[in-house]
Amino acid sequence: MLFKSMQNIVKKNSLLWGEEVAETYHAAAARCMQENWDAIIFPLLQKHSIDYSDVVDFACGYGRNTDMLLNHARSITMVDVNEHNLDYCRNKYADHQSVSIVGCNGYTLEELSENRFSFFYTFDSVVHFPPEIVRSYLPEMHRVLKNGGYAFVHHSNYTAGGKDKDFRKNPHWRNYMSAELFADYAKGAGFNVIEQSLIDWEVVNLDCCTILQKP
Ligand SMILES: C[S@@+](CC[C@H](N)C(=O)[O-])C[C@H]1O[C@@H](n2cnc3c(N)ncnc32)[C@H](O)[C@@H]1O
Repeated sequence: MLFKSMQNIVKKNSLLWGEEVAETYHAAAARCMQENWDAIIFPLLQKHSIDYSDVVDFACGYGRNTDMLLNHARSITMVDVNEHNLDYCRNKYADHQSVSIVGCNGYTLEELSENRFSFFYTFDSVVHFPPEIVRSYLPEMHRVLKNGGYAFVHHSNYTAGGKDKDFRKNPHWRNYMSAELFADYAKGAGFNVIEQSLIDWEVVNLDCCTILQKP
């Protein structure tokens, strides 16, 4: 029953970011990646002793974050629910021995083994996920990380209008989530919440980047 309802949520919310947005999202976003990395992401990552040996780029899209992470990581496992995006990345990274590409069902990471990864990274994806999906993934992030491993999760901090509002009516399609709710979910999943940094995305404090650590 729960399984069916999660599948329905994924169908309705998660399959909007494939070939149909190749130009309007993926190509356009790739052009801003270096700027996002330099201004928002790397300054936060640098504050923590992150081990980049075995990295997950979660909800990877066309791989613009992997392109940045490749400068630091020994191996990268790219994960996404969208088959078109996975195929795009299989083609793009065919010559990269250090990159693997894995599909997921949209609410668990059952293809990934436990205690395997040193760093779990996700940018510009979880911001759109419904709270049920975020909550479902957090114990999975915890499961796949090694003890002491960090996670970097860029998520929404937008709650105006309430939980049942169509997220596509929200600024930048942010789904319902707050820094506090995310921290509660993460603690419930067994994480220590190390740092939360609110981010302006045209709207003041629209997003949050949370750094988690598996004890
Ligand atoms: C806005 S794109 C961002 C892609 C990439 N992170 C980037 O910055 O370019 C959102 C990505 O999340 C993926 N996605 C959406 N819902 C998902 C889910 N429930 N589980 C895993 N991936 C999901 C989409 O397929 C898409 O690749």
